[in-house]
Amino acid sequence: MVRGLAAFILLQTIIVIQTLNVTDNIPLTEAGLGQTVTLTCNASGHENGLFYWYKMNYGYLVQTVAGGSFGKLILDKHFEKSGFQVKNVGDIHSLIIRNVSKEDEATYLCQAGSAYKLKFVYGTNLAVNGKISSFWSFCFFGIHAQSSASTTAL
Ligand SMILES: *[C@@H]1O[C@H](CO)[C@@H](O)[C@H](O)[C@H]1NC(C)=O
Ligand SMILES: *[C@@H]1O[C@H](CO)[C@@H](O)[C@H](O)[C@H]1NC(C)=O
Ligand SMILES: *[C@@H]1O[C@H](CO)[C@@H](O)[C@H](O)[C@H]1NC(C)=O
Repeated sequence: MVRGLAAFILLQTIIVIQTLNVTDNIPLTEAGLGQTVTLTCNASGHENGLFYWYKMNYGYLVQTVAGGSFGKLILDKHFEKSGFQVKNVGDIHSLIIRNVSKEDEATYLCQAGSAYKLKFVYGTNLAVNGKISSFWSFCFFGIHAQSSASTTAL
């Protein structure tokens, strides 16, 4: 009985370890104060229709930087005046941040798909002057692990 339980616990541990795949980590983009940063998101292979850029900071709600249909992305009012710009050429979406500041340091995620099937495509941790908290990757991890968990259940 106890051995069975131990085996069960071990199995649970193995599952947890497998879920925590290091390839799910978000890459780091470093920039110096005042530089222009271009983040790109390749949405190839995802259903056409909607596209979003999000900014995520620990302790704050996720902010939508820009969003809309593939052909017409609209910047959120809050980001219009802060040097942010969106561009897209085919499936390649770019988020351009000019004169980057400490306030821009965050995790940026892009999402693409249709109204019924939106998926996170890519994410990056933007570090201005090389400072970054490891918490950001952990946050994304949670989202990603959840989606892969539902795939595994099939
Ligand atoms: C991690 O994920 C990659 C690609 O999704 C896969 O090839 C690899 O086998 C995985 N590694 C583990 C330890 O699950
Ligand atoms: C975008 O992704 C597709 C499919 O993975 C690939 O064929 C294409 O070369 C990529 N484009 C760029 C510019 O990386
Ligand atoms: C860049 O941003 C700083 C404050 O973050 C501001 O003082 C400066 O004027 C800006 N430079 C340009 C070229 O917009």
